[in-house]
This record gives sequence, structure tokens and C-alpha cells, in this order.
Amino acid sequence: MIKARADWRRFFVSVVVLIAAATEGASALAQDAVARGRYLATAANCQTCHTRSGGKPYEGGLPFTTDFGVIYSTNITSHPQAGIGRWTLAQFVRAFREGVDEQGQHLYPAFPYTAFTRLTDADLADLYAYFKTVPASAYRAPDNDMRFPFGQRQLLGPWKSMFFESARLTPRQDRSAEWNRGAYLVEALGHCGACHSPRNLLGAEKTDQAMAGGWYYDKIPGGAVRRWSAVNLTQAQSGLRAWSIGDLTSYLKTGHGTRAGSFGPMNEVIENSTRNLSDADVRAMAVYLKSLPAVERSDEQSLSDRERGAGETLYTIHCGTCHLPTGAGAKPGEDLGPPLAGSAVVQSPEPYSLINIILYGTQVITPTPPKAWKNMKPLYDSLDDDEVAQIANYLRSSWGNRGGKVTEADVAEQRSDDE
Ligand code: HEC
Ligand code: HEC
Ligand code: HEC
Repeated sequence: MIKARADWRRFFVSVVVLIAAATEGASALAQDAVARGRYLATAANCQTCHTRSGGKPYEGGLPFTTDFGVIYSTNITSHPQAGIGRWTLAQFVRAFREGVDEQGQHLYPAFPYTAFTRLTDADLADLYAYFKTVPASAYRAPDNDMRFPFGQRQLLGPWKSMFFESARLTPRQDRSAEWNRGAYLVEALGHCGACHSPRNLLGAEKTDQAMAGGWYYDKIPGGAVRRWSAVNLTQAQSGLRAWSIGDLTSYLKTGHGTRAGSFGPMNEVIENSTRNLSDADVRAMAVYLKSLPAVERSDEQSLSDRERGAGETLYTIHCGTCHLPTGAGAKPGEDLGPPLAGSAVVQSPEPYSLINIILYGTQVITPTPPKAWKNMKPLYDSLDDDEVAQIANYLRSSWGNRGGKVTEADVAEQRSDDE
């Protein structure tokens, strides 16, 4: 009798212990999913797009200027009404896979679902788990301000049938695991093509010129909105041919490297995303980028002797001390400038970022490495539009560089305050 009671007690205790262990195990698993989701959100840089300046993380309200109007990012905190707190996993997955909101309405591709459609089911589940834990905010973004007729979301139906395919990324058996990881980070999570691929007149990325250099609107230092060009990331002469895997890794990890420092909107990509990824992941991205076959979008130009002479003089006065007469530049930490010979910024098919850096200078990321680039000063007041164009054309036709003609009007457009 006594023994039976003792057995019962032992049995009861072990059941309680088992249940506790199972719950603890489940919550540990849930914790793992949240941690993985947080890392994925970093790799996908959700926060930069979904946080307005001065706002709480993920509450939305950041304006995106496009040729079709202004689109505001939405609140994706766990708030049940203002955010996505009520969304089921299936609704969340569908937003990424098909570009629709919880009611099935089309979303604008300013939300880069053309890349995110390639995310794996497991990663989407982890992201969902993480966003359930993001503190709720009741903030609501302003209404979009689209030009007629682009405010009609139904128009995105035909657009998607022409330019969007809900598809996963198939791992390539003939490539290493590192390469495949890099492809996933660059093409799916990192959505690098959203800025670095050219778009057609209807705003869709041109697949045959993927990663060969794109453009878009974003802030310049001071807050006004301007066009930027994102460089050609392929192995073209005007792209990353001159960069080694090490150059790319240190650039993505720190914002600084022997080939270049980052500036403009690429700063946010590095600060909020790539710099926080594991060394192995950043290297995988570099390995993948170095394997992209050359796609050349930049034209060549030749200058008359008079144009060349004038450009060279302006370059010598304003730029040569730091970037050297040969365009070979110096090393980070030497208080000079990076090489302009072979620079992808100089040779970008669209010259917007080249003009922006001359007019507005750089805001370098706080250096984590001891040796890093300093800021390049703005020359907005020292050079007129024609002089900026002359320098740009000199750079785009010297030392083996290529790049089409830059006009005075191109420079004037980067100065104007019409956006
Ligand atoms: C390049 C900017 C950008 C990035 C990166 C981005 N988003 Fe968005 N997202 C947007 C914009 C803009 C919208 C609004 C689209 C619209 O209104 O049609 C949006 C919409 C959404 C929606 C639909 C919300 C709703 O209420 O309908 C969800 C969900 C979402 N994003 C989640 C995410 C998550 C999670 C990430 C990271 C994995 C992410 N987004 C990364 C710009 C971005
Ligand atoms: C006082 C030194 C200095 C002078 C003068 C200077 N630069 Fe720079 N430049 C830099 C530094 C430092 C950087 C790297 C900063 C960064 O990219 O964040 C840089 C970066 C650049 C880049 C970006 C290169 C790349 O591939 O990312 C270009 C293009 C450039 N400079 C052009 C010019 C031109 C054109 C002039 C003259 C009108 C000029 N610079 C004058 C120091 C200088
Ligand atoms: C929001 C738009 C945007 C996104 C997203 C973006 N980039 Fe960029 N990127 C730019 C711009 C603008 C430049 C030119 C300014 C500069 O060089 O810092 C640039 C420049 C670069 C450069 C060349 C730097 C140089 O000076 O020649 C590399 C390499 C690069 N990006 C890699 C990436 C990778 C990899 C991704 C994806 C993880 C990515 N970018 C995503 C906008 C973007």
C-alpha cells in the first residue's frame, strides 16, 4: 500500500517534470526561431524601409519616391489593427510569395517581393515568429500620393502577370555551398537588385541586365530627394572587375576597403544590414558577386584635346591631390582618396552618384577598422554645373575608364530642389 503510493508519487513527479521539460523545450525552440528571424530581418534590411525618421522601429511611414508617385511603407509591428499582429502565418507568407496584403490586395513592388518571393518556407516562418515579438505601435502611415492612374492597385495585376513570377531559388549543384548561400543572400534576402538592377519604363527590373547598375530616388545629405545610381555589380569593366573577394568583404563588413568607401544610401545597407552579418555570410556574398558574368551597360566616350585639357586642369586643381594625377588613389588611412581608375561609381551607366559625390561629398560610416577613409568635402559652391560635367567626362574617359557623356543639364538636375 505504502509502496504503491510512493510509486504514484514518483509517477506524478516524473509526469510534471516531463511536461515542464517539454514546455521549456518548446519555448527554447520558439526562442531560436525568434533569434533566427531577427537575423533574417537584418539580412533583408526590413528596418531601414519600415522605419520613418524619428519613428519607432518597424512602424512604417518612410516615403518612397518613384516615377509613379510616393508610396509609404506600412506598419509591420505586432499591433493588431495598425500593424500585422493579426496576420496568420499563411497571410504573411502570401505577402512575400505573391505580393498581396492580408485581404489579397496587390502590393507595390517598392516592397521588394520580386526578390523576397525566393525566401524559403523555413525562413519565412522564422521571420513571422520574430515579427510577432516586435513591440506594437499604433502609428499609421500617410496615404500614398500616386499619380493618376497608378493609385489603382488593380493595375498591378497585369503588371505582375508580365513581370513577376512567384518562384524559389533552386540551388545549383555545380556550385559550392558557399556560392549558393551567397546567391540566396544577394538575390533573395539582400534584394541588392532592387537598387542595382536597371528597370524598364514600367518600373520592373530588367532580368537580362540584372545587377548591371540601377538608379532610384533617395535622400541626399540635407534631406532633399535626388536620383542615385547604384553601381554595376557584375564583372564588367565598368563594374566590380577591379575588386577582389577581400575588397568586397571588407567593404560590406565595414563600409571601407582599398577600392572604395561607401556613401549615400549604400551607407544604410551596410550599417543596418551587411555589417551585422556573420563573416561567413558576408564572404559568401562576395564569392557570389565575383562570379556574376560581365554585363556592360556603360558607353565609351572620347574627348577632344581641348575638352581633355580643360577637364585635366580642373581635376588637378580640385581632385588630384587626393586621388593622384594617375587616378590610382591611395590606401585607406592615408588621408587621401580611393582609386578612381577602375571605379564603378565613376563608370556607372547613369552618372547620378558620381555627380552627387562631387556636389555633396560623403558621410562616411563611423570606422570600425582603425584605418578608414575620411569624408570627401562637398564642392557644391566651388564648381559650376559645366565644370562638374567636365570633370566627370574627364574621369569617364581616362585611365581605361568608360562611361557615357555627362551634360551640364545632368548636373543641374542633381542640384534642383524640385522633388
Ligand atoms: C526596399 C524597402 C522595403 C524592404 C527592404 C522591406 N519592405 Fe516591407 N514594404 C515596403 C513598402 C513600401 C510597403 C508598402 C507596399 C504597398 O503599400 O503596396 C511594404 C509592405 C510590407 C508588408 C505588407 C503590409 C500591409 O499592411 O499590407 C509586409 C508584411 C512587409 N512589407 C514586411 C516586410 C518585412 C518582414 C521585410 C523584411 C524581411 C520587409 N517588409 C522589407 C518596403 C520594404
Ligand atoms: C581631400 C581629399 C579628396 C579630394 C580633394 C577629393 N576626394 Fe574624392 N574621395 C576622397 C575620399 C576620402 C573618398 C572616400 C570616401 C567615401 O567613399 O566614403 C573619396 C571618394 C571619391 C569617389 C568614390 C569612389 C568609389 O568608387 O566609391 C569619387 C568618384 C570621387 N571621390 C571623386 C572625386 C572628384 C571628382 C574630386 C574632385 C572634384 C574629388 N573626389 C576630390 C577624398 C578626396
Ligand atoms: C537602397 C539602394 C541600395 C541597395 C538595396 C543596395 N545598394 Fe549597393 N549601392 C547603392 C548606391 C547608391 C551605391 C553607390 C554609392 C556608394 O558607392 O557607396 C552602391 C554601391 C555599392 C557597391 C560599390 C561601391 C563603390 O564605391 O564602387 C557595392 C560593392 C555594393 N553597392 C554592393 C551591394 C550589395 C551586395 C547589396 C545587397 C546586399 C547592395 N549593394 C544593396 C545602393 C544600394
